[in-house]
Amino acid sequence: MNSIGIIGAGNIGRAFATALGRNNIRSTLSNSRGPESLRDLVAGLGPSIEAGTREEAASKDIVFVAVNWSKLPAALNGLPDFGGRIVIDVNNPI
Ligand SMILES: NC(=O)c1ccc[n+]([C@@H]2O[C@H](COP(=O)([O-])OP(=O)(O)OC[C@H]3O[C@@H](n4cnc5c(N)ncnc54)[C@H](OP(=O)(O)O)[C@@H]3O)[C@@H](O)[C@H]2O)c1
Repeated sequence: MNSIGIIGAGNIGRAFATALGRNNIRSTLSNSRGPESLRDLVAGLGPSIEAGTREEAASKDIVFVAVNWSKLPAALNGLPDFGGRIVIDVNNPI
């Protein structure tokens, strides 16, 4: 199974992680404040979901990006090239 990383743990990132957790699909959830801030959230999502850094999430085979539009540049800044990996971009300016 491919590894999955999620950048953004708000409404959308959390909903995706919840669906993955229900299906026992391993994935790494991240936000801007670091893994420690996600400890309680991931504890409720099941054993297949772990908290990680933005960089860890961005290193997975499939990367799901769900951050505030205005914060996208910062959320993607300095990350290695996705290099043909799958990136799911759910962001919009609304
Ligand atoms: N809500 C909807 O119904 C909906 C529907 C379709 C599309 N969208 C789009 O999907 C995107 C996400 O929406 P949302 O409602 O999930 O937003 P949200 O609830 O405000 O959550 C935003 C998330 O982005 C994280 N984030 C911000 N800056 C970051 C950074 N530099 N590095 C890593 N993570 C960062 C935040 O982490 P911290 O809290 O730690 O800062 C937070 O977890 C938006 O572009 C929105 O327009 C939303």
